[in-house]
Amino acid sequence: MDKIIVRGGHALRGTIPISGAKNATLPALAATLLTGERVHLSNIPHLKDVTTMLELLGQHGAAITVDERLGVEINNSGVNNFRAPYDLVRTMRASILVMGPLLARHGMAEISLPGGCAIGSRPVNLHIEGLRKMGADISLDEGYIRAKADRLHGAHIFLNPVTVTGTENLLMAATLAKGRTTLENAAKEPEVSDLAVFLNKMGARIQGAGTSTIIIDGVDELHGTQHRIIPDRIETATFMVAAAVTHGDILLTNVDPDALETPIQKLRDAGILVEFPEPDRIRVYCPNPLKPVDLETSPYPGFPTDLQAQMLVLNSLAKGVSQITETVFENRFMHVSELQRLGADIRINGNMAEVHGVNSLLGAPVMATDLRASASLVLAGLAAHGSTTISRVYHIDRGYERIEEKLQALGADIQRTNS
Ligand code: UD1
Repeated sequence: MDKIIVRGGHALRGTIPISGAKNATLPALAATLLTGERVHLSNIPHLKDVTTMLELLGQHGAAITVDERLGVEINNSGVNNFRAPYDLVRTMRASILVMGPLLARHGMAEISLPGGCAIGSRPVNLHIEGLRKMGADISLDEGYIRAKADRLHGAHIFLNPVTVTGTENLLMAATLAKGRTTLENAAKEPEVSDLAVFLNKMGARIQGAGTSTIIIDGVDELHGTQHRIIPDRIETATFMVAAAVTHGDILLTNVDPDALETPIQKLRDAGILVEFPEPDRIRVYCPNPLKPVDLETSPYPGFPTDLQAQMLVLNSLAKGVSQITETVFENRFMHVSELQRLGADIRINGNMAEVHGVNSLLGAPVMATDLRASASLVLAGLAAHGSTTISRVYHIDRGYERIEEKLQALGADIQRTNS
């Protein structure tokens, strides 16, 4: 199994392009199931989760052409299998996103109950309840969600708690439902807005995406189109933290600073210098000692839970004490025990981590436990003295494109081995 070895202590310097957003690509790929016409998606990141979603579409019957440079073209006119099997779904919970589109266009879907990152129980009850409100007949049987509907109809749905993929699943289903659907307390994440833009290009009638109330007027069918996926805000911010903890100076291209207002504010509070030389570029540099910052994760536009682990590393190297509270997922501090192996002083109390900054971290063997946790271990390794070996790096390949190559290009001493 692959391992990543990082020898820390090199300030990152240089320019790196940011990839398309994983969390916008996965729903967009699922949304192609809503039409039998050709759809072209560009700025698709090279990630394990994207390959898994393409595999899933392929086994539903999609014809897929991948061009490394230009993107992916999908033709779903031959879709004839409505089952998302356990073997694929267990490796990626976002597979649940095919449920709404399959049900809306073909009247049936059989989806294995998802697995994915081990961060709390992560139920899908809101996806199921919402589709039931739209007229679906849904049963749970032998680990599968079996859903049927003649034609979905519009409904008024209140989502509590706010759910990103739940909002996306229902949004996609509603595009082909009869009548108007209103999603209240909808997720406002930029990835939800990007999905709505894409669906509207396909002929959907969606208003209000990006706010907490989304109104969808169902249409009889959707058509083919082209769409470019937005930049990955989590990858962007992860590289920003990498520059900060190594006291480097980097330029990130193909980014959307507007989607990162809250994290950028926190990074500035930590003493990091952030500039926008052009609308789609961010320069990050950090000549000064890091200052501790308190934060609480929450749905967009709050601080993203997907950046919590990275900020623990930053605070671990700051002068002073800080508190990080996780409110989105239970059990999302599994990386803490690994960071402690590098000398971080983090004390967990329920859903709050109290971080006491240390002067330096010291490399050690560690194990990745989930996607964002593994990114935090790479960051810690970059800042640490000595060598850090990270095992179970398959988690990182789910969400970061060629992370070691990008970091090498910035001067990091980082290698992948499979010994
Ligand atoms: C998405 C992102 C993930 C991110 C998360 C929160 C994708 C592919 N993944 O995950 O990277 O960490 O948003 O920003 O976009 N919940 C329920 N019932 C449901 C659904 C969710 O109670 O039916 C709860 C969850 O347990 C969690 C909260 O809602 O506490 C938010 O989860 P959700 O937004 O659904 O996360 P995902 O969409 O799975």
